[in-house]
Amino acid sequence: MESDWELNADVVVVGSGAAGISAALAAATHGRHVVLLSKGEVGGGATALAQGGMAAAIGPDDDGSLHCSDTMQAGAGLCEPSAVAALVAAAPNTIEQLNRRGARLECTALGLEAGHSRRRIVHAGGDATGAEVHRILAAALAASPVEVHCGTIALDLLTDADGRAGGLVAGVIGSSGQPLRTGVVKARAVVLATGGFGQAFVTTTSPAGITGDGLAIAARAGADLRDLEFVQFHPTILWQQGARGRQPLITEALRGAGAVLVDAAGLPVMAGRHPLGDLAPRDVVAAAMQEQITRSGTDHLWLDATALGRAALEKDFPTVTAACRARGIDPVTEPIPVAPGAHYACGGIRAGLDGQTSMPGLFSVGEAAATGVHGANRLASNSLTESLITGHRAGDLLGRHLPEQRRNLRPPAHGPGVSAAHRPALAEAMSRHAGIARDAAGLRRLLAELNSVSPSDESGLSLATVETVSLHTASLLVATAALARAESRGCHRRSDAPTTGPSRHSVLRWRNGRIDRSEQPIQEIGVPA
Ligand code: FAD
Ligand code: SIN
Repeated sequence: MESDWELNADVVVVGSGAAGISAALAAATHGRHVVLLSKGEVGGGATALAQGGMAAAIGPDDDGSLHCSDTMQAGAGLCEPSAVAALVAAAPNTIEQLNRRGARLECTALGLEAGHSRRRIVHAGGDATGAEVHRILAAALAASPVEVHCGTIALDLLTDADGRAGGLVAGVIGSSGQPLRTGVVKARAVVLATGGFGQAFVTTTSPAGITGDGLAIAARAGADLRDLEFVQFHPTILWQQGARGRQPLITEALRGAGAVLVDAAGLPVMAGRHPLGDLAPRDVVAAAMQEQITRSGTDHLWLDATALGRAALEKDFPTVTAACRARGIDPVTEPIPVAPGAHYACGGIRAGLDGQTSMPGLFSVGEAAATGVHGANRLASNSLTESLITGHRAGDLLGRHLPEQRRNLRPPAHGPGVSAAHRPALAEAMSRHAGIARDAAGLRRLLAELNSVSPSDESGLSLATVETVSLHTASLLVATAALARAESRGCHRRSDAPTTGPSRHSVLRWRNGRIDRSEQPIQEIGVPA
Protein backbone atom coordinates (compact mmCIF):
# COMPACT_ATOMS: atom_id res chain seq x y z
CA MET A 1 0.00 0.00 0.00
CA GLU A 2 1.51 3.35 -1.06
CA SER A 3 1.42 5.92 1.68
CA ASP A 4 2.72 9.51 1.79
CA TRP A 5 2.31 9.95 5.54
CA GLU A 6 1.53 8.04 8.74
CA LEU A 7 -0.05 8.92 12.09
CA ASN A 8 -0.36 6.80 15.21
CA ALA A 9 -3.02 7.14 17.89
CA ASP A 10 -4.93 5.25 20.55
CA VAL A 11 -8.22 6.26 18.96
CA VAL A 12 -8.95 7.74 15.55
CA VAL A 13 -12.32 9.51 15.28
CA VAL A 14 -13.73 10.39 11.86
CA GLY A 15 -16.09 13.38 11.81
CA SER A 16 -16.37 16.60 13.80
CA GLY A 17 -20.11 16.86 14.39
CA ALA A 18 -21.77 16.42 17.77
CA ALA A 19 -21.04 12.68 17.79
CA GLY A 20 -17.39 12.78 16.71
CA ILE A 21 -16.35 15.67 18.96
CA SER A 22 -18.16 14.13 21.94
CA ALA A 23 -16.35 10.82 21.38
CA ALA A 24 -12.96 12.50 20.96
CA LEU A 25 -13.36 14.67 24.07
CA ALA A 26 -14.48 11.76 26.26
CA ALA A 27 -11.60 9.50 25.19
CA ALA A 28 -9.08 12.34 25.62
CA THR A 29 -10.37 13.01 29.16
CA HIS A 30 -9.02 9.57 30.07
CA GLY A 31 -5.61 10.52 28.70
CA ARG A 32 -5.96 8.68 25.40
CA HIS A 33 -4.12 10.04 22.39
CA VAL A 34 -6.95 10.88 20.01
CA VAL A 35 -6.61 11.84 16.35
CA LEU A 36 -9.73 13.39 14.81
CA LEU A 37 -10.11 13.57 11.02
CA SER A 38 -12.58 15.97 9.46
CA LYS A 39 -13.30 16.31 5.78
CA GLY A 40 -13.65 20.08 5.91
CA GLU A 41 -13.37 22.55 8.76
CA VAL A 42 -14.43 21.46 12.24
CA GLY A 43 -18.19 20.94 11.96
CA GLY A 44 -19.16 20.95 8.32
CA GLY A 45 -21.91 18.38 8.86
CA ALA A 46 -25.53 18.53 9.96
CA THR A 47 -24.91 19.43 13.60
CA ALA A 48 -24.39 23.18 13.20
CA LEU A 49 -27.50 23.40 10.98
CA ALA A 50 -29.91 21.84 13.46
CA GLN A 51 -32.84 24.14 14.05
CA GLY A 52 -35.61 22.67 16.21
CA GLY A 53 -33.50 21.50 19.11
CA MET A 54 -32.82 18.61 21.45
CA ALA A 55 -35.50 16.43 23.01
CA ALA A 56 -35.24 15.88 26.77
CA ALA A 57 -38.00 15.18 29.29
CA ILE A 58 -37.31 18.12 31.60
CA GLY A 59 -40.69 19.90 31.59
CA PRO A 60 -42.83 19.88 34.76
CA ASP A 61 -45.57 17.82 33.05
CA ASP A 62 -43.12 15.39 31.41
CA ASP A 63 -41.17 12.30 32.32
CA GLY A 64 -38.90 9.76 30.67
CA SER A 65 -41.63 7.20 30.18
CA LEU A 66 -43.61 9.65 28.01
CA HIS A 67 -40.51 10.53 25.96
CA CYS A 68 -39.89 6.79 25.63
CA SER A 69 -43.40 5.98 24.42
CA ASP A 70 -43.43 8.89 21.92
CA THR A 71 -40.08 7.67 20.52
CA MET A 72 -41.36 4.09 20.21
CA GLN A 73 -44.63 5.25 18.66
CA ALA A 74 -42.76 7.22 15.96
CA GLY A 75 -40.34 4.30 15.45
CA ALA A 76 -43.25 2.09 14.27
CA GLY A 77 -42.23 -1.18 15.93
CA LEU A 78 -38.51 -1.16 15.09
CA CYS A 79 -37.07 0.70 18.10
CA GLU A 80 -34.81 -1.22 20.46
CA PRO A 81 -36.54 -0.64 23.81
CA SER A 82 -33.35 -0.81 25.89
CA ALA A 83 -31.59 1.72 23.64
CA VAL A 84 -34.56 4.10 23.78
CA ALA A 85 -34.78 3.79 27.57
CA ALA A 86 -31.06 4.55 27.96
CA LEU A 87 -31.23 7.53 25.60
CA VAL A 88 -34.25 9.06 27.26
CA ALA A 89 -32.73 8.58 30.73
CA ALA A 90 -29.45 10.24 29.70
CA ALA A 91 -30.98 13.18 27.80
CA PRO A 92 -31.63 15.59 30.74
CA ASN A 93 -28.07 15.16 32.04
CA THR A 94 -26.66 15.73 28.56
CA ILE A 95 -28.45 19.08 28.39
CA GLU A 96 -27.13 19.89 31.84
CA GLN A 97 -23.55 19.11 30.72
CA LEU A 98 -23.90 21.46 27.74
CA ASN A 99 -25.12 24.17 30.11
CA ARG A 100 -22.13 23.54 32.37
CA ARG A 101 -19.87 24.06 29.35
CA GLY A 102 -21.51 27.46 28.85
CA ALA A 103 -24.25 26.76 26.31
CA ARG A 104 -27.05 29.32 26.12
CA LEU A 105 -29.96 26.90 25.95
CA GLU A 106 -33.63 27.69 26.45
CA CYS A 107 -34.65 25.11 29.06
CA THR A 108 -37.89 26.60 30.37
CA ALA A 109 -39.95 27.75 27.35
CA LEU A 110 -39.67 24.31 25.73
CA GLY A 111 -40.63 23.81 22.09
CA LEU A 112 -43.12 21.36 20.59
CA GLU A 113 -42.51 19.22 17.51
CA ALA A 114 -44.32 16.47 15.64
CA GLY A 115 -44.97 13.24 17.49
CA HIS A 116 -44.19 14.69 20.95
CA SER A 117 -47.01 14.51 23.48
CA ARG A 118 -45.32 17.17 25.63
CA ARG A 119 -43.31 20.35 25.13
CA ARG A 120 -39.78 18.96 25.47
CA ILE A 121 -37.59 20.59 22.80
CA VAL A 122 -34.64 22.44 24.32
CA HIS A 123 -33.42 25.05 21.86
CA ALA A 124 -31.06 28.00 21.47
CA GLY A 125 -31.16 31.29 19.59
CA GLY A 126 -34.75 30.52 18.55
CA ASP A 127 -34.09 28.10 15.69
CA ALA A 128 -30.27 28.13 15.85
CA THR A 129 -29.78 25.24 18.30
CA GLY A 130 -27.18 23.36 16.26
CA ALA A 131 -25.00 26.45 15.91
CA GLU A 132 -24.91 26.83 19.70
CA VAL A 133 -24.13 23.13 20.27
CA HIS A 134 -21.39 23.36 17.65
CA ARG A 135 -19.97 26.55 19.24
CA ILE A 136 -19.66 24.86 22.63
CA LEU A 137 -18.20 21.60 21.32
CA ALA A 138 -15.76 23.29 18.93
CA ALA A 139 -14.46 25.45 21.79
CA ALA A 140 -14.02 22.40 24.03
CA LEU A 141 -12.22 20.59 21.20
CA ALA A 142 -9.87 23.53 20.63
CA ALA A 143 -9.01 23.56 24.33
CA SER A 144 -8.42 19.78 24.45
CA PRO A 145 -5.33 17.72 23.58
CA VAL A 146 -7.17 16.04 20.67
CA GLU A 147 -5.02 16.14 17.49
CA VAL A 148 -7.35 17.55 14.83
CA HIS A 149 -6.67 17.11 11.11
CA CYS A 150 -9.06 19.19 9.02
CA GLY A 151 -9.21 18.76 5.25
CA THR A 152 -8.53 15.04 5.69
CA ILE A 153 -10.93 12.40 4.44
CA ALA A 154 -11.15 8.83 5.72
CA LEU A 155 -11.07 6.43 2.77
CA ASP A 156 -10.96 2.86 4.05
CA LEU A 157 -10.62 0.79 7.15
CA LEU A 158 -7.42 -1.13 7.83
CA THR A 159 -8.08 -4.59 9.23
CA ASP A 160 -5.97 -7.57 10.26
CA ALA A 161 -6.31 -11.12 8.95
CA ASP A 162 -9.08 -11.82 11.49
CA GLY A 163 -11.12 -8.83 10.32
CA ARG A 164 -10.36 -6.61 13.34
CA ALA A 165 -10.03 -2.87 12.74
CA GLY A 166 -6.66 -1.26 13.45
CA GLY A 167 -6.71 2.04 11.58
CA LEU A 168 -7.62 3.87 8.44
CA VAL A 169 -6.41 4.89 5.04
CA ALA A 170 -7.06 8.62 4.64
CA GLY A 171 -6.37 11.36 2.14
CA VAL A 172 -5.34 14.96 2.57
CA ILE A 173 -7.56 17.12 0.35
CA GLY A 174 -5.67 19.64 -1.77
CA SER A 175 -7.09 22.24 -4.11
CA SER A 176 -10.19 21.37 -6.12
CA GLY A 177 -9.80 18.41 -8.48
CA GLN A 178 -6.33 17.56 -7.20
CA PRO A 179 -5.56 13.93 -6.30
CA LEU A 180 -5.68 13.20 -2.57
CA ARG A 181 -2.38 12.73 -0.73
CA THR A 182 -3.00 9.36 0.88
CA GLY A 183 -1.61 8.11 4.17
CA VAL A 184 -2.50 5.86 7.09
CA VAL A 185 -3.62 6.35 10.67
CA LYS A 186 -2.86 3.35 12.87
CA ALA A 187 -5.01 3.20 15.98
CA ARG A 188 -6.29 0.72 18.52
CA ALA A 189 -9.87 1.80 17.83
CA VAL A 190 -11.63 3.56 14.96
CA VAL A 191 -14.80 5.62 15.54
CA LEU A 192 -16.88 6.48 12.47
CA ALA A 193 -19.01 9.60 13.11
CA THR A 194 -19.48 10.69 9.52
CA GLY A 195 -23.21 11.54 9.62
CA GLY A 196 -25.79 10.39 7.07
CA PHE A 197 -26.09 10.28 3.27
CA GLY A 198 -28.67 12.97 2.43
CA GLN A 199 -26.70 13.98 -0.65
CA ALA A 200 -27.76 10.71 -2.31
CA PHE A 201 -31.04 12.51 -3.16
CA VAL A 202 -31.75 15.50 -5.41
CA THR A 203 -32.85 17.80 -2.59
CA THR A 204 -31.82 17.45 1.02
CA THR A 205 -31.27 19.39 4.20
CA SER A 206 -27.78 17.84 4.52
CA PRO A 207 -24.66 19.80 3.62
CA ALA A 208 -22.48 18.92 0.64
CA GLY A 209 -20.03 16.65 2.49
CA ILE A 210 -22.71 14.32 3.88
CA THR A 211 -22.18 11.58 1.33
CA GLY A 212 -22.35 8.33 3.32
CA ASP A 213 -18.57 7.89 3.46
CA GLY A 214 -18.60 6.12 6.84
CA LEU A 215 -21.35 3.78 5.70
CA ALA A 216 -19.40 2.89 2.54
CA ILE A 217 -16.16 2.39 4.53
CA ALA A 218 -17.90 0.07 7.02
CA ALA A 219 -19.65 -1.77 4.18
CA ARG A 220 -16.43 -2.46 2.27
CA ALA A 221 -14.83 -3.73 5.48
CA GLY A 222 -17.71 -6.18 5.99
CA ALA A 223 -19.42 -4.65 9.06
CA ASP A 224 -23.14 -5.22 9.68
CA LEU A 225 -25.43 -2.44 8.43
CA ARG A 226 -28.95 -2.09 9.73
CA ASP A 227 -32.37 -0.78 8.59
CA LEU A 228 -30.99 1.32 5.73
CA GLU A 229 -34.33 1.49 3.94
CA PHE A 230 -35.60 3.96 6.54
CA VAL A 231 -34.71 7.37 5.14
CA GLN A 232 -36.58 10.22 6.76
CA PHE A 233 -37.92 12.93 4.45
CA HIS A 234 -38.54 16.22 6.21
CA PRO A 235 -41.93 17.62 5.18
CA THR A 236 -40.84 21.22 4.90
CA ILE A 237 -37.72 22.26 3.11
CA LEU A 238 -37.76 25.53 1.22
CA TRP A 239 -38.87 24.84 -2.35
CA GLN A 240 -37.17 26.63 -5.20
CA GLN A 241 -37.66 25.89 -8.90
CA GLY A 242 -34.94 23.54 -10.18
CA ALA A 243 -32.97 23.58 -6.92
CA ARG A 244 -30.54 20.73 -6.23
CA GLY A 245 -28.45 19.70 -3.25
CA ARG A 246 -28.79 21.25 0.19
CA GLN A 247 -31.86 23.44 0.70
CA PRO A 248 -32.81 25.48 3.77
CA LEU A 249 -34.86 23.63 6.36
CA ILE A 250 -38.13 25.21 7.48
CA THR A 251 -38.23 23.90 11.02
CA GLU A 252 -41.08 21.77 12.28
CA ALA A 253 -41.11 23.98 15.37
CA LEU A 254 -42.94 26.53 13.19
CA ARG A 255 -45.85 24.10 12.96
CA GLY A 256 -45.47 23.56 16.71
CA ALA A 257 -45.98 27.32 17.07
CA GLY A 258 -49.10 27.31 14.86
CA ALA A 259 -47.99 27.48 11.20
CA VAL A 260 -50.21 25.47 8.84
CA LEU A 261 -49.50 23.52 5.65
CA VAL A 262 -51.79 24.73 2.88
CA ASP A 263 -52.43 24.04 -0.79
CA ALA A 264 -52.65 26.53 -3.67
CA ALA A 265 -56.17 27.49 -2.61
CA GLY A 266 -55.03 28.13 0.97
CA LEU A 267 -56.83 25.02 2.31
CA PRO A 268 -55.16 23.07 5.14
CA VAL A 269 -53.41 19.98 3.76
CA MET A 270 -53.47 17.91 6.96
CA ALA A 271 -57.12 18.54 7.89
CA GLY A 272 -58.87 15.19 8.42
CA ARG A 273 -55.75 13.17 7.66
CA HIS A 274 -54.46 12.50 11.19
CA PRO A 275 -55.69 13.36 14.70
CA LEU A 276 -52.52 15.42 15.28
CA GLY A 277 -53.02 17.37 12.05
CA ASP A 278 -49.93 19.41 11.13
CA LEU A 279 -48.08 17.83 14.05
CA ALA A 280 -48.64 14.23 12.97
CA PRO A 281 -45.40 12.17 12.83
CA ARG A 282 -43.03 13.32 10.12
CA ASP A 283 -43.50 10.27 7.89
CA VAL A 284 -47.27 10.82 7.90
CA VAL A 285 -47.01 14.52 7.02
CA ALA A 286 -44.39 13.97 4.31
CA ALA A 287 -46.43 11.16 2.72
CA ALA A 288 -49.64 13.24 2.80
CA MET A 289 -47.81 16.14 1.15
CA GLN A 290 -46.28 13.91 -1.52
CA GLU A 291 -49.68 12.42 -2.30
CA GLN A 292 -51.24 15.89 -2.63
CA ILE A 293 -48.35 17.15 -4.77
CA THR A 294 -48.66 14.14 -7.10
CA ARG A 295 -52.46 14.36 -7.27
CA SER A 296 -52.54 18.08 -7.98
CA GLY A 297 -49.68 17.95 -10.50
CA THR A 298 -47.80 20.74 -8.70
CA ASP A 299 -44.31 20.46 -7.33
CA HIS A 300 -44.76 22.08 -3.94
CA LEU A 301 -47.16 23.24 -1.24
CA TRP A 302 -46.98 26.14 1.23
CA LEU A 303 -46.42 26.63 4.93
CA ASP A 304 -48.46 29.56 6.16
CA ALA A 305 -46.75 31.09 9.18
CA THR A 306 -48.19 34.58 8.77
CA ALA A 307 -50.46 34.18 11.82
CA LEU A 308 -47.37 34.01 14.06
CA GLY A 309 -46.64 37.68 13.37
CA ARG A 310 -43.46 39.60 12.72
CA ALA A 311 -42.13 39.68 16.29
CA ALA A 312 -42.38 35.90 16.85
CA LEU A 313 -40.96 35.03 13.43
CA GLU A 314 -37.99 37.36 13.73
CA LYS A 315 -37.23 36.53 17.38
CA ASP A 316 -38.00 32.79 17.57
CA PHE A 317 -37.21 31.76 13.98
CA PRO A 318 -34.39 34.04 12.83
CA THR A 319 -32.68 31.30 10.74
CA VAL A 320 -35.83 30.45 8.78
CA THR A 321 -36.83 34.09 8.37
CA ALA A 322 -33.39 35.05 7.06
CA ALA A 323 -33.23 32.07 4.67
CA CYS A 324 -36.64 32.93 3.21
CA ARG A 325 -35.88 36.64 2.87
CA ALA A 326 -32.56 35.86 1.18
CA ARG A 327 -34.67 34.21 -1.51
CA GLY A 328 -37.21 37.01 -1.79
CA ILE A 329 -39.92 35.44 0.38
CA ASP A 330 -41.16 37.24 3.50
CA PRO A 331 -42.74 34.68 5.88
CA VAL A 332 -44.31 37.57 7.85
CA THR A 333 -46.59 38.44 4.93
CA GLU A 334 -46.71 35.40 2.62
CA PRO A 335 -46.81 31.58 2.82
CA ILE A 336 -43.46 29.81 2.36
CA PRO A 337 -43.19 27.41 -0.63
CA VAL A 338 -42.19 24.00 0.74
CA ALA A 339 -41.72 20.41 -0.39
CA PRO A 340 -40.41 17.29 1.38
CA GLY A 341 -36.70 16.45 1.02
CA ALA A 342 -34.22 13.87 2.30
CA HIS A 343 -33.31 14.71 5.88
CA TYR A 344 -32.09 11.87 8.09
CA ALA A 345 -30.78 8.30 7.84
CA CYS A 346 -32.61 6.25 10.49
CA GLY A 347 -30.50 3.21 9.57
CA GLY A 348 -26.72 2.95 9.36
CA ILE A 349 -23.81 0.96 10.75
CA ARG A 350 -25.22 -1.50 13.28
CA ALA A 351 -24.02 -0.37 16.69
CA GLY A 352 -24.82 -0.43 20.37
CA LEU A 353 -25.29 2.77 22.37
CA ASP A 354 -21.57 2.64 23.25
CA GLY A 355 -20.77 2.54 19.56
CA GLN A 356 -19.67 -1.12 19.33
CA THR A 357 -20.22 -2.51 15.84
CA SER A 358 -20.09 -6.10 14.60
CA MET A 359 -16.32 -5.65 13.94
CA PRO A 360 -13.84 -5.66 16.83
CA GLY A 361 -12.05 -2.31 17.00
CA LEU A 362 -14.69 -0.49 14.92
CA PHE A 363 -17.12 1.90 16.60
CA SER A 364 -19.79 4.11 15.11
CA VAL A 365 -21.81 6.92 16.68
CA GLY A 366 -24.31 9.61 15.72
CA GLU A 367 -26.25 9.58 12.48
CA ALA A 368 -23.78 7.17 10.84
CA ALA A 369 -24.81 4.48 13.32
CA ALA A 370 -28.05 2.52 13.73
CA THR A 371 -28.44 1.93 17.46
CA GLY A 372 -32.12 1.06 17.28
CA VAL A 373 -33.15 4.30 19.00
CA HIS A 374 -34.99 5.63 15.96
CA GLY A 375 -36.53 2.44 14.62
CA ALA A 376 -38.41 2.96 11.36
CA ASN A 377 -38.84 6.72 11.82
CA ARG A 378 -36.94 9.11 14.06
CA LEU A 379 -38.86 11.25 16.49
CA ALA A 380 -38.03 14.93 15.91
CA SER A 381 -35.07 16.32 17.85
CA ASN A 382 -33.92 12.92 19.14
CA SER A 383 -30.81 12.82 16.98
CA LEU A 384 -28.70 15.66 18.36
CA THR A 385 -29.35 14.19 21.78
CA GLU A 386 -28.40 10.73 20.50
CA SER A 387 -25.21 12.01 18.83
CA LEU A 388 -24.06 13.67 22.05
CA ILE A 389 -24.90 10.64 24.19
CA THR A 390 -23.52 7.89 21.96
CA GLY A 391 -20.41 9.92 21.17
CA HIS A 392 -19.72 10.47 24.84
CA ARG A 393 -20.41 6.84 25.75
CA ALA A 394 -18.14 5.46 23.02
CA GLY A 395 -15.29 7.81 23.95
CA ASP A 396 -15.71 7.03 27.62
CA LEU A 397 -15.69 3.27 26.94
CA LEU A 398 -12.49 3.61 24.87
CA GLY A 399 -11.00 5.78 27.61
CA ARG A 400 -11.47 2.95 30.06
CA HIS A 401 -10.73 0.02 27.78
CA LEU A 402 -8.82 -0.04 24.50
CA PRO A 403 -8.44 -3.05 22.18
CA GLU A 404 -4.89 -4.23 21.37
CA GLN A 405 -3.12 -2.59 18.41
CA ARG A 406 -3.65 -4.96 15.47
CA ARG A 407 -0.82 -5.96 13.15
CA ASN A 408 -0.41 -6.75 9.43
CA LEU A 409 -3.15 -4.34 8.50
CA ARG A 410 -4.63 -4.10 5.02
CA PRO A 411 -7.41 -2.12 3.32
CA PRO A 412 -10.26 -4.03 1.63
CA ALA A 413 -10.23 -4.80 -2.07
CA HIS A 414 -11.91 -2.07 -4.11
CA GLY A 415 -14.09 -2.39 -7.16
CA PRO A 416 -13.75 0.10 -10.02
CA GLY A 417 -14.42 3.76 -9.13
CA VAL A 418 -17.48 5.76 -10.17
CA SER A 419 -16.92 9.01 -12.04
CA ALA A 420 -18.20 12.18 -10.36
CA ALA A 421 -19.99 12.94 -13.64
CA HIS A 422 -22.58 10.31 -12.61
CA ARG A 423 -23.53 12.05 -9.37
CA PRO A 424 -26.54 14.06 -10.64
CA ALA A 425 -28.03 11.01 -12.42
CA LEU A 426 -27.58 8.85 -9.32
CA ALA A 427 -29.45 11.41 -7.21
CA GLU A 428 -32.25 11.67 -9.81
CA ALA A 429 -32.69 7.89 -9.80
CA MET A 430 -32.71 7.71 -5.99
CA SER A 431 -35.29 10.49 -5.65
CA ARG A 432 -37.50 8.97 -8.34
CA HIS A 433 -37.47 5.38 -7.06
CA ALA A 434 -36.37 5.42 -3.41
CA GLY A 435 -38.10 8.61 -2.28
CA ILE A 436 -41.25 8.89 -0.17
CA ALA A 437 -43.34 6.63 -2.43
CA ARG A 438 -41.70 3.36 -3.43
CA ASP A 439 -42.66 0.13 -5.20
CA ALA A 440 -40.88 -3.04 -6.26
CA ALA A 441 -40.82 -2.21 -9.97
CA GLY A 442 -39.22 1.20 -9.35
CA LEU A 443 -36.70 -0.21 -6.89
CA ARG A 444 -35.71 -2.93 -9.40
CA ARG A 445 -35.23 -0.25 -12.04
CA LEU A 446 -33.14 1.74 -9.60
CA LEU A 447 -30.92 -1.25 -8.83
CA ALA A 448 -30.50 -1.93 -12.56
CA GLU A 449 -29.47 1.70 -13.11
CA LEU A 450 -27.04 1.63 -10.18
CA ASN A 451 -25.52 -1.65 -11.32
CA SER A 452 -25.03 -0.42 -14.88
CA VAL A 453 -23.05 2.72 -13.99
CA SER A 454 -19.90 2.62 -16.09
CA PRO A 455 -16.64 2.47 -14.13
CA SER A 456 -14.48 5.57 -13.86
CA ASP A 457 -11.43 5.87 -16.09
CA GLU A 458 -10.13 8.85 -14.10
CA SER A 459 -6.59 8.46 -12.79
CA GLY A 460 -5.77 9.47 -9.22
CA LEU A 461 -8.17 9.58 -6.32
CA SER A 462 -10.01 12.90 -5.94
CA LEU A 463 -12.52 14.09 -3.32
CA ALA A 464 -15.27 14.15 -5.95
CA THR A 465 -14.73 10.54 -7.04
CA VAL A 466 -14.45 9.27 -3.45
CA GLU A 467 -17.75 10.95 -2.56
CA THR A 468 -19.44 9.61 -5.68
CA VAL A 469 -18.31 6.07 -4.85
CA SER A 470 -19.72 6.51 -1.32
CA LEU A 471 -23.03 7.80 -2.66
CA HIS A 472 -23.21 4.95 -5.16
CA THR A 473 -22.54 2.39 -2.41
CA ALA A 474 -25.09 4.00 -0.07
CA SER A 475 -27.65 4.05 -2.88
CA LEU A 476 -27.11 0.35 -3.69
CA LEU A 477 -27.55 -0.53 -0.02
CA VAL A 478 -30.70 1.57 0.44
CA ALA A 479 -32.26 0.22 -2.77
CA THR A 480 -31.47 -3.38 -1.82
CA ALA A 481 -32.92 -2.97 1.67
CA ALA A 482 -36.00 -1.13 0.38
CA LEU A 483 -36.74 -3.76 -2.27
CA ALA A 484 -36.43 -6.61 0.22
CA ARG A 485 -38.75 -4.99 2.78
CA ALA A 486 -42.11 -5.80 1.22
CA GLU A 487 -44.20 -3.91 3.76
CA SER A 488 -44.94 -0.31 4.72
CA ARG A 489 -43.65 0.90 8.05
CA GLY A 490 -42.50 4.28 9.35
CA CYS A 491 -40.74 6.21 6.62
CA HIS A 492 -40.50 3.19 4.28
CA ARG A 493 -43.72 3.24 2.25
CA ARG A 494 -44.38 0.70 -0.49
CA SER A 495 -47.48 1.38 -2.61
CA ASP A 496 -47.38 -2.30 -3.71
CA ALA A 497 -47.15 -3.54 -0.08
CA PRO A 498 -49.21 -1.13 2.00
CA THR A 499 -49.65 -3.31 5.09
CA THR A 500 -47.22 -3.80 7.97
CA GLY A 501 -45.66 -7.21 8.63
CA PRO A 502 -43.76 -8.63 11.62
CA SER A 503 -41.24 -6.28 13.30
CA ARG A 504 -37.77 -7.34 12.10
CA HIS A 505 -34.58 -5.36 11.55
CA SER A 506 -32.91 -5.84 8.21
CA VAL A 507 -29.16 -6.45 8.32
CA LEU A 508 -26.99 -6.09 5.23
CA ARG A 509 -23.42 -7.24 4.74
CA TRP A 510 -21.25 -6.35 1.74
CA ARG A 511 -19.20 -9.39 0.59
CA ASN A 512 -16.82 -8.86 -2.32
CA GLY A 513 -19.26 -6.54 -4.04
CA ARG A 514 -22.28 -8.75 -3.27
CA ILE A 515 -24.87 -7.72 -0.69
CA ASP A 516 -26.15 -10.40 1.72
CA ARG A 517 -29.32 -9.67 3.66
CA SER A 518 -30.62 -11.21 6.86
CA GLU A 519 -33.23 -10.30 9.45
CA GLN A 520 -32.86 -9.75 13.16
CA PRO A 521 -35.56 -9.73 15.82
CA ILE A 522 -36.16 -6.78 18.12
CA GLN A 523 -34.36 -7.48 21.40
CA GLU A 524 -35.75 -6.44 24.72
CA ILE A 525 -32.39 -6.42 26.47
CA GLY A 526 -28.84 -5.67 25.47
CA VAL A 527 -27.05 -4.34 22.44
CA PRO A 528 -25.22 -6.16 19.64
CA ALA A 529 -21.91 -7.71 20.66
P1 FAD B 1 -22.65 15.47 11.42
O1 FAD B 1 -22.91 16.63 12.31
O2 FAD B 1 -23.37 15.44 10.12
O3 FAD B 1 -21.09 15.42 11.20
C1 FAD B 1 -20.48 14.53 10.32
C2 FAD B 1 -19.01 14.88 10.26
O4 FAD B 1 -18.31 13.89 9.54
C3 FAD B 1 -18.70 16.21 9.58
O5 FAD B 1 -17.70 16.87 10.30
C4 FAD B 1 -18.17 15.76 8.22
O6 FAD B 1 -17.31 16.71 7.63
C5 FAD B 1 -17.42 14.52 8.62
N1 FAD B 1 -17.14 13.54 7.56
C6 FAD B 1 -18.02 12.91 6.75
N2 FAD B 1 -17.37 12.02 5.97
C7 FAD B 1 -16.05 12.09 6.31
C8 FAD B 1 -14.89 11.43 5.87
N3 FAD B 1 -14.92 10.47 4.93
N4 FAD B 1 -13.70 11.76 6.44
C9 FAD B 1 -13.62 12.74 7.40
N5 FAD B 1 -14.70 13.39 7.85
C10 FAD B 1 -15.90 13.07 7.32
N6 FAD B 1 -31.60 16.74 14.80
C11 FAD B 1 -32.13 17.09 16.00
O7 FAD B 1 -32.09 16.28 16.94
N7 FAD B 1 -32.69 18.31 16.18
C12 FAD B 1 -32.77 19.24 15.19
O8 FAD B 1 -33.26 20.33 15.38
C13 FAD B 1 -32.23 18.89 13.92
N8 FAD B 1 -32.28 19.77 12.89
C14 FAD B 1 -31.64 19.46 11.74
C15 FAD B 1 -31.59 20.42 10.72
C16 FAD B 1 -30.89 20.15 9.56
C17 FAD B 1 -30.82 21.21 8.50
C18 FAD B 1 -30.26 18.90 9.39
C19 FAD B 1 -29.52 18.57 8.13
C20 FAD B 1 -30.33 17.93 10.38
C21 FAD B 1 -31.02 18.21 11.56
N9 FAD B 1 -31.07 17.28 12.59
C22 FAD B 1 -31.64 17.62 13.79
C23 FAD B 1 -30.32 16.02 12.51
C24 FAD B 1 -29.00 16.19 13.29
O9 FAD B 1 -28.50 17.50 13.08
C25 FAD B 1 -27.96 15.19 12.88
O10 FAD B 1 -28.50 13.90 12.87
C26 FAD B 1 -26.78 15.20 13.83
O11 FAD B 1 -26.28 16.52 13.96
C27 FAD B 1 -25.71 14.28 13.31
O12 FAD B 1 -24.53 14.50 14.03
P2 FAD B 1 -23.25 13.65 13.65
O13 FAD B 1 -22.15 14.12 14.54
O14 FAD B 1 -23.58 12.22 13.62
O15 FAD B 1 -22.94 14.05 12.12
C1 SIN C 1 -36.66 20.58 12.55
O1 SIN C 1 -36.29 21.54 13.20
O2 SIN C 1 -37.74 20.52 11.95
C2 SIN C 1 -35.76 19.40 12.45
C3 SIN C 1 -35.71 18.69 13.73
C4 SIN C 1 -35.14 17.33 13.57
O3 SIN C 1 -34.83 16.89 12.47
O4 SIN C 1 -35.04 16.64 14.59
